[in-house]
Amino acid sequence: MDIHTTKKLNNGVGIPYLGLGVFLCNEGDETNNVVRWAIEAGYRHIDTASMYGNEKSVGLGIRQSGAARKELFVTTKLKKDDMRDGTQMQAFEKSLKLLQLDYVDLYLIHWPVAGKTRESWKVMEKIYESGRARAIGVSNFIERHLDQLLQDAKIIPAVNQIELHPHLSQQTLAAYCEKLGVACEAWSPLGGTGGKILDEPVLKKIADKYGKSVAQVILRWDLQRGIIAVPKSTHRARIKANTELYDFELSPDDIKAINDLDQDPQRIEWGDPSLIGF
Ligand code: A2P
Repeated sequence: MDIHTTKKLNNGVGIPYLGLGVFLCNEGDETNNVVRWAIEAGYRHIDTASMYGNEKSVGLGIRQSGAARKELFVTTKLKKDDMRDGTQMQAFEKSLKLLQLDYVDLYLIHWPVAGKTRESWKVMEKIYESGRARAIGVSNFIERHLDQLLQDAKIIPAVNQIELHPHLSQQTLAAYCEKLGVACEAWSPLGGTGGKILDEPVLKKIADKYGKSVAQVILRWDLQRGIIAVPKSTHRARIKANTELYDFELSPDDIKAINDLDQDPQRIEWGDPSLIGF
């Protein structure tokens, strides 16, 4: 296993297990730099969203990196407003234009929106059939949302990207996704900006044992669970350090100790998708 190792999605497309997330990276030099630094550090997977407001800088960073398009895996997402306004196709085309790309590797419905998800999925299917997204999927869907989508979907989502970290390890939902053939991806795998997970004593103890950082232990835990993760950092050294995951293996006891941190699940500020209808 190394940074190029991919997980095979349900349509045969490979997604690198590790990607760079750019939520809360400012449009302009900040995003531009992190994308270039990540590609220099070996990342081939970049995860953005129209809601992040930084697709233009992601596109520029990709261009400046000089990496061949076909070596990269780029994800972006359809935001709630475009689902409510019926502007899904225009939104996708705008994302492509900002990213300066002819296609994305993965296009996701960012959040379920009551009454708008089914029609949005039909647009996603059209985009997939046009070849301008190599895979389509969803984000922040719980079991009920997936079941409802599957009732009349022609295409099964390739991915469900959800909040997942040691304080919300999502074992039930991840297993459900796996059963449906939907790959599970972790957003805010390190617990998000300003989160407390990186100071968690149980994780510190495990990290010291392996001579690794807490961030590396968490990302290795994702890897060993078969979860795709897109950690964010604006620091070049951390972007690089977050790739150093392939020279150690967590023991089953340590995996269990990390899983047990979920006994009192805690979400980041973005709300609970289980409160959203379909
Ligand atoms: P920064 O951007 O200042 O490096 P998530 O991916 O869970 O949303 O978490 C991102 C948060 O974790 C950011 O606040 C980021 O801060 C921080 N972070 C990312 N990588 C590391 C690391 N290796 N060590 C410490 N903090 C990190």
